[in-house]
Amino acid sequence: MKEQLEKRIALVTGGSSGIGFAIARRLIEDGFFVVITGRRQQALDEAVASLGGNALGLSADVSSAESLKQPYSEIEQRFGRIDVLVANAGGGVHAPLGQITETQIDQMFSTNVKGVVLTIQGALPLLKRGSSVVIIGSSASIDPGATMSIYGATKAAVRNMVRSWIVELKGSGIRMNILSPGPTNTSSLRAAFGDHAEDGLAFLQAKSPLNRIGEASEIASAVAFLAGDQASYINGVELFADGGASQM
Ligand SMILES: NC(=O)c1ccc[n+]([C@@H]2O[C@H](COP(=O)([O-])OP(=O)(O)OC[C@H]3O[C@@H](n4cnc5c(N)ncnc54)[C@H](OP(=O)(O)O)[C@@H]3O)[C@@H](O)[C@H]2O)c1
Repeated sequence: MKEQLEKRIALVTGGSSGIGFAIARRLIEDGFFVVITGRRQQALDEAVASLGGNALGLSADVSSAESLKQPYSEIEQRFGRIDVLVANAGGGVHAPLGQITETQIDQMFSTNVKGVVLTIQGALPLLKRGSSVVIIGSSASIDPGATMSIYGATKAAVRNMVRSWIVELKGSGIRMNILSPGPTNTSSLRAAFGDHAEDGLAFLQAKSPLNRIGEASEIASAVAFLAGDQASYINGVELFADGGASQM
């Protein structure tokens, strides 16, 4: 317990898989004690077993303020603070105009927008001067392409919320930035293409100036930079880690 308190404390929502898991692993390598969240207990348990002794898994649904009460209460009792908050939990599905369903709209806005609001609001009492917040956006915020209009809209909404929040946080000493990945090699990226995963990945590779999609560890490196003291004068930006694809 004492050793945990001496370490910096990070919370990574959606840390049980994909990009969030890579961020948790990187922050542990950088000396943090990391709390990860997710809805599925088994996935959390497996992730914590893989991350080792400096990780704790707490189940929570970011789209429910009620569900977030317990993990925030436990973090407050055990650590009393959050040094780095990574609001990563999120996701989306492809749907072209004409085939967008109400359920898709509700689910994407509920997780990617409401979830980010509730995550950061719940963490506010635990964020101190010098704490840093990184929200995982997406290059879809400026370059959604076909079939990603709703997903892109949720990530553009996050970008706009941060413009307001950094003004509200003036004087608090808390920094808040967005790290927007381009297509990244995770199971969810493949799943989003359904039966057309190979075609989808080939399209994304061809679109990239680097001729490839990103690795989750590369996104984690960029998050570690934004979260840490090397970025002490960076506040309110959306940093793209997408190989330049969104600028084409
Ligand atoms: N992969 C990409 O190409 C890519 C590109 C740009 C941006 N992003 C963004 O990066 C973030 C992570 O994506 P990923 O590809 O790593 O996805 P992923 O592998 O599907 O992981 C998503 C994580 O979030 C958790 N999660 C989902 N909904 C949640 C909810 N309502 N409450 C709590 N946890 C929830 C999942 O656990 P449970 O299911 O157990 O809850 C899981 O741990 C997302 O914000 C996504 O939009 C991804």
